[in-house]
Amino acid sequence: MTAKKTILSGSTVTGDLTLGNYIGAITNWKKLQEDYDCLYFLADLHALTVFQDPKILKDRTYSFFAQYLALGLDPEKNTIFAQSHVHEHTELSWILTCLTPLGYLNRMTQFKDKSEKHEKNVNAGLYTYPILMAADILLYQADMVPVGEDQRQHLELCRDIVGFFQNRYGEGTFKMPEAYIGKMGARIMSLQDPSKKMSKSDENDKNYVSIIDDAKKIEKKIKSAATDSDTVVNYDPENKPGLSNLMVIYSVLGNKTMAEIEKAYEGKMYGHLKVDLAELTVETLKPVHEKYNDLMKNRDHLDQLLRKGAEKASVRAALTLTEVYNKVGLIPRR
Ligand code: TYM
Repeated sequence: MTAKKTILSGSTVTGDLTLGNYIGAITNWKKLQEDYDCLYFLADLHALTVFQDPKILKDRTYSFFAQYLALGLDPEKNTIFAQSHVHEHTELSWILTCLTPLGYLNRMTQFKDKSEKHEKNVNAGLYTYPILMAADILLYQADMVPVGEDQRQHLELCRDIVGFFQNRYGEGTFKMPEAYIGKMGARIMSLQDPSKKMSKSDENDKNYVSIIDDAKKIEKKIKSAATDSDTVVNYDPENKPGLSNLMVIYSVLGNKTMAEIEKAYEGKMYGHLKVDLAELTVETLKPVHEKYNDLMKNRDHLDQLLRKGAEKASVRAALTLTEVYNKVGLIPRR
């Protein structure tokens, strides 16, 4: 029997989980859990790179965890945990920080975007963020990392860091991870401005559908999505970015090809598609909301699941970190 490959991914605990996160990442996480050894975590330490109200961060972390479970991630099949519960993440991150040249960090487009957005709080953590991300991945010897398009550059840096480590200390400590980016939906765009990605920390909540938005909000947001003035429903991301974005969402949630959608809307208007997409989204999220509301009633249960997840993750993380400490010349604690 061959061992299952290892998958790892996570989401930063900021803003609201959106349809973008669901379609770009979590649908793939769900598919992969059937055949792989998967670890999915809540990147709560990454959230601290922007200012967080402590109480809101705590509540949001429970909420994200409940959303992971309600969206169909199974805590029995997978290892699901909070990043801050496994101290090896920050320890490995330090070792990798000492290997990463500044020039590589300077290239990160997400750092540039975020430091413009949070110009009053451009802290060192925002800058070293992708190194912590590399530590998350390398600790568990992940083979594949399912992410949306916006994380591709961070994944490439992670692979570079494996190279820096190998050059200094030799091969065999870390597995070289691959990004796993879905063909469809890897970059869901903002509803009001389809030239930028749908972001969960967008100040204007009309730009995204949150997983826990109620039916009324979902309908309103989708029906008022910005589209061009043409009427023919055809997939054309260049000239019809708003419509094409809605079609991508439709295609993933409704499991339909673009050709099938185009055919179904022949002779109809954009408005028809918007109404149907709103209904499809509400229907898709209805069972998720029910499960989510149930889970959120019982924090003790969530705590128990988080503890189990952290226990499973810690055993694996400790193995890698011990080897790393040994390789770099730190005396083992006796
Ligand atoms: P985060 O929290 O921004 O997003 C979580 C996942 O959702 C994907 N995503 C999207 N996909 C399609 N369209 C969109 N509009 C969209 N917006 C977000 C992201 O690509 C991501 O896969 N740094 C990471 C969290 C992280 C991580 C890791 C991921 C920390 N350590 C290790 C993988 C491995 C982040 O902030 O993702």
